[in-house]
Amino acid sequence: MSISKYFELDGGDRMPRIGFGTWQAPPDILEKSVEAALEAGYRHFDSARAYENEAALGRALNRWIGGDPAKRKELFVVTKLPPGGNRPELVEEYFNASLRDLGLEYIDLYLLHVPFGFEHIPGDLHPKNPDGSMKFDYKTDLVGVWKAILKLKESGRVRHVGISNMNQEQIKRLCAVAKPACLQVEVHVLHQQKPLIATANELGIPVVAYSPLGSKALADALAAKTGRTYPNLLEIPEVQKIAKTHSRTPAQILLRFLLQHGVASIPKSTDPTRIKQNISVWDFELSKKEMEELHALDRGEEGRICDFLFFIGVEKHPEYPFKKQ
Ligand SMILES: NC(=O)c1ccc[n+]([C@@H]2O[C@H](COP(=O)([O-])OP(=O)(O)OC[C@H]3O[C@@H](n4cnc5c(N)ncnc54)[C@H](OP(=O)(O)O)[C@@H]3O)[C@@H](O)[C@H]2O)c1
Repeated sequence: MSISKYFELDGGDRMPRIGFGTWQAPPDILEKSVEAALEAGYRHFDSARAYENEAALGRALNRWIGGDPAKRKELFVVTKLPPGGNRPELVEEYFNASLRDLGLEYIDLYLLHVPFGFEHIPGDLHPKNPDGSMKFDYKTDLVGVWKAILKLKESGRVRHVGISNMNQEQIKRLCAVAKPACLQVEVHVLHQQKPLIATANELGIPVVAYSPLGSKALADALAAKTGRTYPNLLEIPEVQKIAKTHSRTPAQILLRFLLQHGVASIPKSTDPTRIKQNISVWDFELSKKEMEELHALDRGEEGRICDFLFFIGVEKHPEYPFKKQ
């Protein structure tokens, strides 16, 4: 099974199917990790205003670019509009702040990060009430925000625009205005998103899998808070058995599975050995039987880790995407 290393986008641009995640990486550590990632061959970097480390990513990327426009063209840099910017009149201001912190002249892909909105409080990307709940803007005009993001393209400062964390109804609603260049959602062996991916495929939208290795730091933090248990994807016996067969690591099996599942992935690591490992998934293939074994691990909605319920009160927002039917 031959898989292209890229998703082809409009205008001949290419989005590498293995990218580098940056969430929860402290700025000084991220800077070094990005250097290791560039050295290992990553060219797709996934960031977000809400991660509060865009400047560190930008410093490492700009050192590598060294002012050479041809080197800038080799990169595919992604960032996202934070929930506090989910108002049409605020989109440009938040976008400009990301561009400034990244120190770039343009962004390759700008994503609408989540469909729900927070109150816009300058200097506070995660505004909270005294009781710990988030300060939500319950009047989020999702279509209006999407139209404002589309407008950014006219300026030439962003090459592609897309969406993240949307459900099927929201995807179709936004698609009626204009097709997103990409849908970034949680996908991994326990949460395979088959119906959502089928819809994205029908609409011709490439899917990027976030938390492809099960986001251990998030899972541990949620387990400590809620008492719910989250299986460690790297320790699943079927994954370990297949890893042994191919003399690969469990992480490589999880990432190769996603490539053969039809999606791109953006694993995060700050460890140089793992960084190399996670992009070395092109020289082996999982058999049909192994893919069937891995497909059978899907837990559907139960397998979701990042349900955003850590933003206390989010389920009351009209655009909360994961409402239980
Ligand atoms: N759109 C969204 O709302 C959204 C949400 C979540 C994530 N994302 C994006 O997706 C990226 C990836 O997701 P994620 O960070 O949640 O989780 P992830 O990539 O599934 O997992 C990261 C965890 O796995 C560990 N790890 C990485 N490679 C490994 C390997 N080869 N062997 C063993 N452990 C390994 C990392 O530890 P070390 O660092 O110590 O190696 C880290 O604890 C994020 O960084 C972010 O860019 C987007």
